[in-house]
Amino acid sequence: MGRNDEDGPKDPLRMLEKSHRRLAENLALLREAVAGLPRPEALEAVREVAEFVSRTVARHERDEELTLFPRLRADGDLAPLLAELEAEHRAHELLHQELFDLAEDDRPNASGLQDLSRRLDAAYERHIELEESRVFPAARAALSEADLAAMAEEMQARRGRGGGGGGGGGRGGG
Ligand SMILES: [Fe+2]
Ligand SMILES: [Fe+2]
Repeated sequence: MGRNDEDGPKDPLRMLEKSHRRLAENLALLREAVAGLPRPEALEAVREVAEFVSRTVARHERDEELTLFPRLRADGDLAPLLAELEAEHRAHELLHQELFDLAEDDRPNASGLQDLSRRLDAAYERHIELEESRVFPAARAALSEADLAAMAEEMQARRGRGGGGGGGGGRGGG
């Protein structure tokens, strides 16, 4: 574990884990927000989570599908799990769209949003657990430093900036 990569080259697996923590924080914000509906500030908070999910979480799932999973498919033991996780990403996209649609309504459907918040929690709890307990450790074991560096580059390109500096800003990260 020795290397501290906070300031050095980005570790793509750490980036994916951090992204999971931010998602968990946003799901907690959503639970709180839907309990406060129909107050306008609660609806505003729901909309912020919807925006985060449709932009940042969608990009996280592209990182996994386009950058991480293809590098692990040669591992026959892991392949069925990767296919399952990809199928779950398709189900997540439907939940994201549902959240975005419900959040747009100026007279929010509180019970619909509360139910959706619970479904998002359920969907992500197990999904993240599987990725962090099985996929990321397998990637650590199988991938070389060069693989990890190439992954970090792909992920940063997806964020619209090159490998240098950056990352300090509030909204752009993820
Ligand atoms: Fe995933
Ligand atoms: Fe993930």
